[in-house]
Amino acid sequence: MNIKITKSDHSRISEIDFNNLQFGRDFSDHMFEMVYKNGKWQTAEIKPYSQISFGPSLMALHYGQAIFEGMKAYYADDDTINLFRPTDHHKRLNNSARRMCMPEIEESVFLSGLEELLKLDYSWVPKEHGHALYIRPVMFASEEYLAAKVSSEYHFYIITSPVAAYYSEGFNPVSLTTSSKYVRAVKGGTGEAKAAGNYGGSFLPAKKAQESGFTQVLWLDAIENKYVEEVGTMNIFFKMGNKLITPPLAGTVLPGITRKSVIALANEWGMDVEERKISIDEVFLSHKDGNLSEIFGAGTAAVISPVGHIHHDGDSISLDREKIGPFAEKMFNSITGIQYGKMNDSKGWIHPVKVK
Ligand code: COI
Repeated sequence: MNIKITKSDHSRISEIDFNNLQFGRDFSDHMFEMVYKNGKWQTAEIKPYSQISFGPSLMALHYGQAIFEGMKAYYADDDTINLFRPTDHHKRLNNSARRMCMPEIEESVFLSGLEELLKLDYSWVPKEHGHALYIRPVMFASEEYLAAKVSSEYHFYIITSPVAAYYSEGFNPVSLTTSSKYVRAVKGGTGEAKAAGNYGGSFLPAKKAQESGFTQVLWLDAIENKYVEEVGTMNIFFKMGNKLITPPLAGTVLPGITRKSVIALANEWGMDVEERKISIDEVFLSHKDGNLSEIFGAGTAAVISPVGHIHHDGDSISLDREKIGPFAEKMFNSITGIQYGKMNDSKGWIHPVKVK
């Protein structure tokens, strides 16, 4: 794979306070860039992180043809950085591209872009357990034209950002509310793609939820406003007895890579995992019966995030604990143990990159 590499002549790393990282605020020295035009992807480039410039007629701005991924790289040792399930992220990126009528990217291009970027910016990968280098591949329509049609040009970037926990709550449980007014996705729409507009459309309801003291919205299905779907920044799991229940991937829920990892580990531990429709009423009833022991979210940015409180239709349930529950904690320790190379990666989820 031929990538043109231009190294930065001045690293900004000394400006970064690695003890006070915020999610997605700082960006490492280099970025990957590839342009699609004349029906094919052109030569890929890695260059210093820099501003990009487009005319105001940029199609992505007008018609929202834009998708992204969120993945992470972890410090294993001074020579090795671990990418977590990069081929799964690549597959999901191409699924999103197909849904949004955008060009797909070859796996070898995606992987070599990531590897070369990490070889240049490995010192940006935080060493502290729980911290990581967040990787944001993004693709958007870059033709400058106002006709409402499929763009003929695209830009694909990969930028990286050293991060700590996504939610300021850290391991303290977050609190969620359903919405009776807004929906995130409907079957046949773009909910299962990682399309930029899915996030933009959720900001107003999320802002209203935050103004009422909640961390995020727990989305319900768009037709009956009854079945739990996801949180928008993470998938959701309910532990009831020895059962782990999560909503199915039926077209409206983002197929999370962490979700898939949680299911695989829970199965391995002999839990009864059910991917099925679960109504918000069932969640509340099971709490009333004393059967609901834990609720947690799972996502790349959020990793495993305990949920302590759900508000729905004037009623609410609270799990009686101030910290993460034992099952979610075991899941967090196992997933991060594999990610940092401290636990056996029996499933081949780790893609180690030798950076020296
Ligand atoms: C992720 O978990 O990577 C996400 O994309 C969620 C959010 C930060 C948009």
